Amino acid sequence: MQSRRELLGRIAVGMVVTGALGLGALGWGSTLLGEYSVMDMGSGNTGHVHGSGAGAGSGTGSGSGAPGAPGQVSAVSLTGLIADPLRNPDVRVKLVARQQTIDVPGGRPVDGYTLNGTSPGPTIRARQGDLVEVAFINESVAAGATLHWHGIDVPNAEDGVAGITQDAVPAGGHHVYRFVAADAGTYWYHSHQVSHEQVERGLLGAVVIEPPGPSANDAETEVIALLHVYGGQHTLNGRVQDEHVAAAPGSTVRTRIINTDQGTAAVWSAGAFRVVATDGHEVNHPAAVEGRTVRIPAGGRLDVTSQVPSQGSVRLHVGGARSISIGDPAVTAPAARQPAGTLDLLTYSTPAPLGFDAAAPDLAFDYVIGRRYGLIDGRPGNFWTINGQLFPDVPMFHVREGNVVAMRIVNETGEVHPMHLHGHHVVVLSRDGVPASGSPWWVDSLDVHPGESYDVAFVADNPGIWSDHCHTLPHAVDGLVAHLMYEGVSTPFTINGAAGNQPE
Ligand code: C2O
Ligand code: CU
Repeated sequence: MQSRRELLGRIAVGMVVTGALGLGALGWGSTLLGEYSVMDMGSGNTGHVHGSGAGAGSGTGSGSGAPGAPGQVSAVSLTGLIADPLRNPDVRVKLVARQQTIDVPGGRPVDGYTLNGTSPGPTIRARQGDLVEVAFINESVAAGATLHWHGIDVPNAEDGVAGITQDAVPAGGHHVYRFVAADAGTYWYHSHQVSHEQVERGLLGAVVIEPPGPSANDAETEVIALLHVYGGQHTLNGRVQDEHVAAAPGSTVRTRIINTDQGTAAVWSAGAFRVVATDGHEVNHPAAVEGRTVRIPAGGRLDVTSQVPSQGSVRLHVGGARSISIGDPAVTAPAARQPAGTLDLLTYSTPAPLGFDAAAPDLAFDYVIGRRYGLIDGRPGNFWTINGQLFPDVPMFHVREGNVVAMRIVNETGEVHPMHLHGHHVVVLSRDGVPASGSPWWVDSLDVHPGESYDVAFVADNPGIWSDHCHTLPHAVDGLVAHLMYEGVSTPFTINGAAGNQPE
């Protein structure tokens, strides 16, 4: 491992070389990062407070002396941040990862990764409050693999990020994940080792956490619609096929749509539907949506309910290429033209209390996304920047447990970025200065379009070291990843070391 100063020194050498010789003479070994710890990354961003408020803000986004500034506290290793080790699991799952050909029903097979022989892997189901234990066995994924629980606020040691919260599980190795399924909703799991390659090639599956109590959802028919593109083939639950779901006339069907792809997915229907949850969080009094397309960011989920007509079926289009016909099994609903207008979740449905005071954050950070030419790890390219800096000199957002944290995400590039913070759920406060006026819009994956600026907030209530990155995963590997670090938490894991950890 090397110190941050050595790390930055190596990068500086790389920059000078780049500048002096131009892009034609690259590929210098001296610019390789080698093994490093994420703790040594970044500019030690301790945040500031926008406008008036608590704390000594510098107004620059990199001030010192803010409430979250790291003190002299001796660090505890994140490996101790786990679920109650004495509690017996309520749900036990065994997932075996293999590198093999994926059978894609309705299409052609592709090379990739399976879990228990299929991609998507098995759906994990739990009830809210259950302790879930997953025995993960890597049978043959040569680069190593992990499982990350996208959208579930697990204890940090269970987050599954290679090189930050664990070592990649080598072929022949295994790892046990344990977490309490604290929030009902629709989630998914995927590898977080070489994720831009392993996720695209299928190392993923759905997670459904049902509400507590006696089968609260039993009145509804439930459908999972996991979207994934395998080698250019648009699939629904792993098949190049539309689905037909039988449901009684007049009944309500809940579709849990999971976008595991690298770009935004569109959802629409000829009939009215309701968006009842975003990223696992219930919408307050969801209003009927008609003549609008709803968009799901890469990594995001949307639960929608459709009302089955008194006769025939209604079609729900998911992800553009696939659809689900819901209702009379003998009647396939006609396709519906995609509405041009988009549902704006900033104003959708009815406000409700957030449960914390977002107007008085303890800390405020900027996450400004730009782009420029440079070198990352010896590799030349047109890379993403965060707050003007190239990876690894991107911000490290220092927080303290209990802080209310505001973040302004600004996209100064020409492409959409679905921003994903691990371990926390984030609420949207405003977009381009326009305050949110609908149901609280909770997200873990938020599309920030070119030129847009979002103010979001969250409570720092889950100690650890957490990735905060773009979920168009080729962007993450090109430097669009920063981290949130709690005061007093350290990691023993490193990136690029003997374990071959490459989280993105
Ligand atoms: Cu869905 Cu960092 O990942
Ligand atoms: Cu991106």
